[in-house]
Amino acid sequence: MVDGGYIASIDVGTTKICTIVAHVAASGQLDILGVGLHPSRGLREGVVVDHAHAVKSVQQSVSAAERMAQLPIGGAYVGVTGAHIKSRNVTGRVRVASGDEITSEDVEQAIQSACDNVALPHDREIIHTLVRDFAIDGQRGVKRPLGMHASRLDANIHVVSAAAGALRNVAAAVEEAGVEVQKQILEPVATSLAVLAEDESDLGVVLMDIGGGTTDLAVFANGAIAHSGAIPVAGNQITGDIAKLLRISYEQAEQVKKQFGTAFANMMNDDDAVLVEEIGTREQVRVPRGLIADIIQARLVEIFQLTIENLQQAGMYDTVTSGVVLTGGGSQLPGTLEMASDIMENTPVRLGSARGVGRGANRVASPIYATGVGLALYAAEEGADASPTSAPSYLEWVEKARSWWRTRVQPRISHYLPEF
Ligand SMILES: Nc1ncnc2c1ncn2[C@@H]1O[C@H](COP(=O)(O)OP(=O)(O)OP(=O)(O)O)[C@@H](O)[C@H]1O
Ligand SMILES: [Mg+2]
Repeated sequence: MVDGGYIASIDVGTTKICTIVAHVAASGQLDILGVGLHPSRGLREGVVVDHAHAVKSVQQSVSAAERMAQLPIGGAYVGVTGAHIKSRNVTGRVRVASGDEITSEDVEQAIQSACDNVALPHDREIIHTLVRDFAIDGQRGVKRPLGMHASRLDANIHVVSAAAGALRNVAAAVEEAGVEVQKQILEPVATSLAVLAEDESDLGVVLMDIGGGTTDLAVFANGAIAHSGAIPVAGNQITGDIAKLLRISYEQAEQVKKQFGTAFANMMNDDDAVLVEEIGTREQVRVPRGLIADIIQARLVEIFQLTIENLQQAGMYDTVTSGVVLTGGGSQLPGTLEMASDIMENTPVRLGSARGVGRGANRVASPIYATGVGLALYAAEEGADASPTSAPSYLEWVEKARSWWRTRVQPRISHYLPEF
């Protein structure tokens, strides 16, 4: 079935863990071989809050994808998000010997000098240094400076950093679930690969992934990333509000939201109502759908306003006028696109789901899979290979070393060891 190698990705989301096994077809498209979706436990707003639950959820999602693909997953590209993510645009400069061609060492040095300009506290790590563009002798907009002649080369870089502890906790959960973490990728960076068209990122676009715990943002301009961030408000807060205000269970609120929720509050008449069971009294109560829509609208307004504030602080709000793409499970309520457009300068807004998928596209058509597919596309671009190798992961290695000591070495030397 799979002639060449295959790749795997794990989107460690707040509501679900999604594992994807894929193969890059000769056409360059991704064929989806396996998808494993499992509710995520032990994660909140992108960070692990319960290690044991997180490991179990990852294991179950991975096994489901392995079963569907009939392939073992040795390593995977894993997503990272959360309010601990910070991004900045920085510039690095090198002098090129006058009249000389720019070499790959010059380019590397310019990128390195940009990173050196980022003062990073010891508890943070850089996860991406994404090239926005280069400037030669002050002229910006150069995409490929190699071989060009100049006396000065500037690299404009988008640097993304994350809290080292949060990164490690996600990686440890995945490794303990038996999968080597090949790379950790910022989720909106991955998602953009799956949902944005090339001309959209050339023209300028704001990508909003409204998930369960976080709304991830990425701004693209002139074909490159210009800003990224995460807001800790998304679909789960909408469900939480419905549960609290209607006094019903979270599970019932989630079902009511998906089945009857809309963001069109003023289009409902009072006869349009839903029966719900109140917590405590267990009484059936009639709730107008207009009230549910009011609750949804209030949170969505907050999500869009926080997005505007985030973009304004980064000096990126102008990009909104070129267009907005919404994705993620939380972007699916009817009326969400219209509301986003109303609040953000009447800009064109569309719903984005994964593109560039060949066989198995129907399995990942919902916007909840956009990040997982994006991570797989990232892995494919970097020529990753998910098959288990003979080289064990760090945790496997430690386990093997321990068992070798216990079974082979300890018995032979036990009479030399002190007794405890
Ligand atoms: N059909 C739907 N209509 C409305 N909301 C939906 C629908 N399907 C899913 N959601 C909501 O989308 C959210 C989950 O989206 P998604 O799967 O993209 O999040 P996640 O990746 O698990 O979380 P995060 O990205 O924040 O870590 C939940 O709040 C859920 O209620
Ligand atoms: Mg997500």
